[in-house]
Amino acid sequence: MIPHSRPFIDEEDAREVQRVLLSGQLAQDGEVARFESRMASFVGVKGAAAVSSGAAALHLALVALKAGPGCEVIVPSYVCPAVLNAVLYTGASPVVADIDPGSFNLSPEDAKRRLTAKTRAVIVPHMFGLPADLDALGALGVPVVEDLALALGSRRNGRRTGSFGTLAVCSFYATKMMATGEGGMVLGSDGALLAEIRDLRAMDEKDDFRVRYNYKMTDMQAALGLSQLRKLTTFVARRREIADLYSDVLRALGLPVPCAPGECEPVWYRYVLRLDGDAEPFIEEMKKKGVDCRRPVYKPLHRYLGLSGYEVTEETWRRAVSVPLYPSLTGAELDTVMKALRLLIPKYCSGRQ
Ligand SMILES: Cc1ncc(COP(=O)(O)O)c(C=O)c1O
Repeated sequence: MIPHSRPFIDEEDAREVQRVLLSGQLAQDGEVARFESRMASFVGVKGAAAVSSGAAALHLALVALKAGPGCEVIVPSYVCPAVLNAVLYTGASPVVADIDPGSFNLSPEDAKRRLTAKTRAVIVPHMFGLPADLDALGALGVPVVEDLALALGSRRNGRRTGSFGTLAVCSFYATKMMATGEGGMVLGSDGALLAEIRDLRAMDEKDDFRVRYNYKMTDMQAALGLSQLRKLTTFVARRREIADLYSDVLRALGLPVPCAPGECEPVWYRYVLRLDGDAEPFIEEMKKKGVDCRRPVYKPLHRYLGLSGYEVTEETWRRAVSVPLYPSLTGAELDTVMKALRLLIPKYCSGRQ
């Protein structure tokens, strides 16, 4: 079975991790500092704080922004539960908003409708690699936490995502744009917020006491992260090539292709098709052809919370399906995926948007 996701790890990655292992310095130290500094330059912000996961990054970003009991944080419904958990860890109330019908991203209009005097921040994931409408979301007048978990390397108006919001978070989970196994980072240009996050991620050797966390990244992870970051531009180029090949299949069938607004350069973390009906039968048939496709969001957040409404998220969740797309996909695997798509898409997809 061709897996839905798979990391790309080469000899250089292995050598870098081995070098750190044999150095005897395993825990957070110089490699982490170097990784933070390279990531900050890459995204185009002043600094970064590495942590143990994307969820930890979201949590500390929200704590630094003083989200807590009595506050509200706006989040989209069509996203993974890490976003919801991070808000709940702080004691703030999650306010779930619908997505935009065209882009899979948080709807600025719905977010605006849900703004109150208690809104402390809005979390803006750039879904599946496509930058969200940061002009409209920035105009809400509350701190924006950009979530780059699925979009590291993307650009909007020539500028990297992650450099627009008050803070940005990354995930380096095994199958993200680049991998450190588990890992995350908060990035930004506000020195006081970053200092607060660095203080909160570790609890030992502090003169005062307050609740802090053990959210540190190890030097082994950071060495892998540095090695992966050197390849990120190649990863993105390969993702784009594969996306173009899938789009050629759709075009040959006379169907519209997923595309980005002119100001956006997506990174194609996922290639998401909108089928005519429910995604499940397509997923089953693709499995029989040896290709593991998935709903790109397992379950929308409003359903976990028992909330109704969210028509765009509901319809998107039902019809959207993600096809394997990652730099470690081999030529033979790519041929198998494209052959299966050519056979099955005409049965499940008439181009209804
Ligand atoms: C949009 C988004 N943000 C945050 C996270 C959390 O990242 P992690 O798995 O590193 O905690 C994920 C994980 O899938 C995600 O999809």
